[in-house]
Amino acid sequence: MRSRIAGTGRCLPGRVVTNDELALSVATSDEWIRTRTGIRQRHVAAEGETTSGLALAASREALAAAGIAPSDVDLIVVATTTPDMIFPSTACILQAKLGAGGGPAFDVQAVCSGFVYALAVADAMLRSGAARNALVVGAEIYSRILDWNDRGTCVLFGDGAGAVVLVPAAEGGILATKLHADGHHKDILCVPGQVRAGGIAGTPFVRMDGGHVFKFAVKVLAEVALEALDAAGLPVSAVDWLIPHQANLRIMDATARKLHVPHERMVVTVDRHANVSAASIPMALDEAVRDGRVRSGHHVLLTGVGGGFTWGAAVLRWA
Ligand code: UT7
Repeated sequence: MRSRIAGTGRCLPGRVVTNDELALSVATSDEWIRTRTGIRQRHVAAEGETTSGLALAASREALAAAGIAPSDVDLIVVATTTPDMIFPSTACILQAKLGAGGGPAFDVQAVCSGFVYALAVADAMLRSGAARNALVVGAEIYSRILDWNDRGTCVLFGDGAGAVVLVPAAEGGILATKLHADGHHKDILCVPGQVRAGGIAGTPFVRMDGGHVFKFAVKVLAEVALEALDAAGLPVSAVDWLIPHQANLRIMDATARKLHVPHERMVVTVDRHANVSAASIPMALDEAVRDGRVRSGHHVLLTGVGGGFTWGAAVLRWA
């Protein structure tokens, strides 16, 4: 038995911040950001918005597309690096907001690989019979963990949520998943602050060695994609759509080149969304499904990389 994606959804906060707007407060320019990253703008959550709130809107869209009532959701897995609070999990908060009850709900923390990790976990639970269906969400409010005076990081990230609904598949569906981690690289991309004695010890902002992350990402995104394709028994030429984590257009282009996937077969949202960490892949998938690019029978390759370091890929045949 396999699982398949029966519906997708996404939610972006209403406020758009352009590169030019950022250049008013930090020493940067639209030209630098566009040429180094491909990013033109990002969406930023308003003061009262929460990660679970963005997840709720994306989940409602995905459930409506799948034709599943919130009360029938069996399992909820939320991938996030920016939860509403330390605990309970954003998945439990989402469960209550949705009116879904009874089944397990938990968060997965694998930073920008979070959605691929969450999808792999939910797929395994469906295939084992532990759940009948699953809501898998990537949701982030990165704007709250950015130092808005650090031009090296604040220009790169955005906020948003994407969701999918998994159901048992008669045919097609998730053909293979591969996950990896190497904690030796924990310091090249991190938020090192710790909650201690009623305050934060250390910095609560994203710290990154951009060059190191760049090289590591290009290497492992292609490697794990090939591993997952091999496990699915498919050649690269069978890939209809490559949906990589949307961190930087140069990383994405380099990955596509390494894999010999033509640029036109890659879904790109980083220009409008920036890097939305665990939410970037499900938001890009939802866009490509809703605008008709991803169609029945297509092979879709998802590949993600993030802090930890973590990386992973999933190969799907769209049902
Ligand atoms: O999900 C994974 C999350 N992280 C990533 O994907 C990040 C991966 N890394 C990258 O995307 C790239 O390394 C960056 C976009 C962060 C940087 O691009 P780069 O081509 O590697 O530039 P660089 O680090 O070599 O920096 C070049 C210069 C530096 O100035 P100096 O030292 O040469 O005088 C930086 O200080 O660009 C400067 N710089 C900026 N200038 C204008 C760094 N950030 C900015 C900025 N605006 N926002």
